[in-house]
Amino acid sequence: ANIPVICIDGPTASGKGTLAAALAHRLGYHLLDSGALYRLVGLAAERAGLATDETALKAENQADRLGELASSMQVRFTGDHILLNEEDVTELLRSESAGMAASRVSAVPQVRSALLGLQHDFRQLPGLVADGRDMGTVVFPDAALKVFLTASASQRAQRRHKQLISKGFAANIDDLLADLIRRDERDSSRSHAPLRPAEDALQLDNSGLSIEQSIDQMLIWWQDKT
Ligand code: C5P
Repeated sequence: ANIPVICIDGPTASGKGTLAAALAHRLGYHLLDSGALYRLVGLAAERAGLATDETALKAENQADRLGELASSMQVRFTGDHILLNEEDVTELLRSESAGMAASRVSAVPQVRSALLGLQHDFRQLPGLVADGRDMGTVVFPDAALKVFLTASASQRAQRRHKQLISKGFAANIDDLLADLIRRDERDSSRSHAPLRPAEDALQLDNSGLSIEQSIDQMLIWWQDKT
């Protein structure tokens, strides 16, 4: 497939989602928020009464069940909305608990492979901007541009705090900081598709940058590649 892909990977609340959406908009490309797919699996598991705590996940058939759940869930993306089995779950997915559940189920290899085809389907003309943890390393290894986005932990906790408050969720900044450190730790240390920059990724620390400045940097890199 010669359809261009731009990957933006990085830790929790590093700004990936915002920047990926802005970049896709600028270029007229499709957008893949791969984290939403893992959040969907977490939510679907909860709805199906499948436990996702560490102990439950150690049982081999639990991992298989989660994989089956991931391949059988009916997902529909309509504009800015995400439907799970025809229910609009857009807001639910943004909660901190959905993020934590996502982080737990995402360590299950059966879940990751079940979501692979779904992610590849997003690669359509004229191009795709994909954000996540393993876009550049596993899902789109042939992507033309791979950006690994970072920002300081305190900066990321502040951003997440602002985001949650603006959506009407209750949030405490110290809890968020502890949560995101825990999530990064789990995402980086798992054996299957851990969070790490691809060898050919360009690193961008956006702690001191505005959204516009970060987009400009990525557009400059993109022009260099095309
Ligand atoms: O990016 P977001 O916070 O929505 O991702 C939620 C969780 O899904 C992450 O903490 C990570 O564990 C998992 N994830 C993943 N691979 C991706 C995207 C997200 O494992 N490509």
